[in-house]
Amino acid sequence: MYAQVVKSEGSKTRDEMTPEELAFQDRIDRGEKIEPKEWMPEGYRKTLIRQIGQHAHSEIVGQLPEGNWITRAPTLERKAILLAKVQDEAGHGLYLYSAAETLGVSRDELMELLHAGKMKYSSIFNYPTLTWADMGAVGWLVDGAAIMNQVPLQRTSYGPYSRAMIRICKEESFHQRQGYAIMMKMAQGTPAQKRMAQDALNRLWYPSLMMFGPSDKDSVHSAQSMAWKIKMNTNDELRQKFVDQTVPQAEYLGLTVPDPDLKWNEEKGGYDFSEPDWSEFYDVLAGNGPCNKDRLGARVKAWEDGAWFRDALVVHAEKAAARRAVAAE
Ligand code: 3HC
Repeated sequence: MYAQVVKSEGSKTRDEMTPEELAFQDRIDRGEKIEPKEWMPEGYRKTLIRQIGQHAHSEIVGQLPEGNWITRAPTLERKAILLAKVQDEAGHGLYLYSAAETLGVSRDELMELLHAGKMKYSSIFNYPTLTWADMGAVGWLVDGAAIMNQVPLQRTSYGPYSRAMIRICKEESFHQRQGYAIMMKMAQGTPAQKRMAQDALNRLWYPSLMMFGPSDKDSVHSAQSMAWKIKMNTNDELRQKFVDQTVPQAEYLGLTVPDPDLKWNEEKGGYDFSEPDWSEFYDVLAGNGPCNKDRLGARVKAWEDGAWFRDALVVHAEKAAARRAVAAE
């Protein structure tokens, strides 16, 4: 089924739409929410499964680079905060898998596709977290980029996705602030700590810009996804907003964004900045990033290690149902 999900169907003009499709598009244009049991074009359903599924996978794979630092957090307080954040990401994954399930795909199917390398998760999580300062930079930049994308998605047209995003965004803003708080501490610390903070920014800046996806001219799905309000902004619009928001934050920290061409453009009211290296982006998507194999390996291992528990839950549920049936006789 997923093979058909991968490429969104070409946008149709109003003249090409069936009466049902026209009525559906009118509902979207009026800002109505679409709910699970209502009629929807097959392409809309598939695009949602692709995007929500990828998003869910990003949440749970995204636990790995930070989970790596739970045992090495510098204080008990930092450990407790990081633990809570990583647990939040698991919760976000669950909301999103549940939202995808309302579209007729099971969590097990989505997992199988992830494990077989047939479904993506965010490119950012294929980069390593080398120092404690990376925990700051991940919260500040990665969660910051995630929120920039996800706040507009609270208004997305599919009801369960939009409601999941409202809860997720509340927690993501805490995540972003805890990351920035770590960066403040490091940037105001010893010269060695400040160097670590700068190094984390240097390594994670461009991978964070890549999170928004390819340039609009290369974005396969944006036009149709925006017509359906599955996406609310283009990739480049959000990337620009992220840069405009983040550069002053870096300046406040006394850190330098690693882009010699970064410059305020008075006319457009935003920064001019260098594009990420898109060949690196596509290489990471093809499975060749620094951590792709580790990340997928860790997820597959967790899934296999948990098989006995999932089996036990099913057996328990069957026995409980059988007991209830006997009691009802
Ligand atoms: N990483 C991996 N794949 C990416 C990507 C990225 N950063 N950006 C784009 N792609 C993929 C697309 O999935 C698509 O591939 P596919 O056809 O095989 O699915 C291809 O590149 C072309 O890109 P498009 O611009 O045409 O794709 P989309 O219209 O789907 O836009 C997106 C990409 C902006 C990421 C969009 O899917 C989106 O807004 N998704 C919802 C938000 C999301 O998934 N966020 C994950 C961020 S991490 C996170 O939330 C965890 C938190 O804890 C930090």
